[in-house]
Amino acid sequence: NLLMQWEAQVRPYIEMIDFMRRIGIEKELALPSIAVVGDQSSGKSSVLEALSGVALPRGSGIVTRCPLELKLRKLINGSGWTAIISYNEVRETFHDPAQVESYVRRAQNMLAGDGVGICDDLISLEITSPDVCDLTLIDLPGITRVPVKGQPEDIGDQIRRLILKFTSKKETINLVVVPCNVDIATTEALRMAQGVDPDGLRTLAILTKPDLIDKGAEADILQVLQGKVVPLKKGYTIVRCRGQSDINENVSLVEATRQEKEFFAKHTQFSYLLEEQRATIPCLSTRLTKELVEHIKSSLPSLRDQIHIHLSAVRVELKNYADGPPLEPERMGPYLSKVHDQISELCRTGESDTGNLYSY
Ligand code: GDP
Ligand code: NA
Ligand code: MG
Repeated sequence: NLLMQWEAQVRPYIEMIDFMRRIGIEKELALPSIAVVGDQSSGKSSVLEALSGVALPRGSGIVTRCPLELKLRKLINGSGWTAIISYNEVRETFHDPAQVESYVRRAQNMLAGDGVGICDDLISLEITSPDVCDLTLIDLPGITRVPVKGQPEDIGDQIRRLILKFTSKKETINLVVVPCNVDIATTEALRMAQGVDPDGLRTLAILTKPDLIDKGAEADILQVLQGKVVPLKKGYTIVRCRGQSDINENVSLVEATRQEKEFFAKHTQFSYLLEEQRATIPCLSTRLTKELVEHIKSSLPSLRDQIHIHLSAVRVELKNYADGPPLEPERMGPYLSKVHDQISELCRTGESDTGNLYSY
């Protein structure tokens, strides 16, 4: 189970952050979220569902029409699977994983209408279960250039603006999803990701649909994977997700993982990528784990400094109280009635003498 793998390695860090949050560190560390960027139908939702184990709406055309924040929360004590979907004033709870798709589709229709429109409003889906680990994944509408019937002229700009809202945050790890069967050199998603993260520190590129490569084009894909077309600091991972026919035949996510591994193992040109840890969803998952741990590790020193500053402030404050409470209980009543008088005076005349309150 991929999530278990995340779990073991990321958990100690996440627990430390949860603890600090509980004891009231005000400027809490934003946990990293993982956002997917790519053209429409490039396989964004498919990658996210393979990583999370949660079946999401996917298919051809514009399916993801609102940003969907998938918050996975590990249930430490107890059992059961609970989802809470919230958008606008709606907040619904359900307990059947098979209902995720229909709830999300209904939410999208409410927010973005029944047609092909998109909407900036966030759908938040919080899933609590013993089988997930604490992670936030964000599914986004795909980049489009040409509006389809019923879409506004500026749909392309609308979507780009929406994507940037998420991908420009520095705590977001951007998964750039590019299908193998397009011209990768001119992919806008890659360009957008480079725009918000020029040093490539939080950009992971994913190549999808390796089963749909034209005969003879495998060598071109290998060039891309080796960073010879669009070089990226963190490089590329190639994955195979469920195609439309797999979905029609109800191929489970577990079975899909098995088939993916077999696909690469049997592939003449790609099988070596398995050894190099550059292929399959489990490998992508391991890479993401590394990224998450790195992000948290690099944030810990500044958290420690914040704690130090808080501690010093509290020590100073404590010193002020060294002589005990400022007033004895029997003098409190007369003091408060004096405060009361001054407030009345202030209301009546617009003036008061707070000076003699301090002298008490
Ligand atoms: P999105 O629009 O980027 O979210 O793309 P989706 O995840 O909805 O995928 C679009 C279509 O491509 C769906 O029908 C998927 O089943 C299919 N698909 C995704 N990944 C693969 C893959 O690796 N191989 C094949 N053959 N189809 C895929
Ligand atoms: Na799609
Ligand atoms: Mg999608």
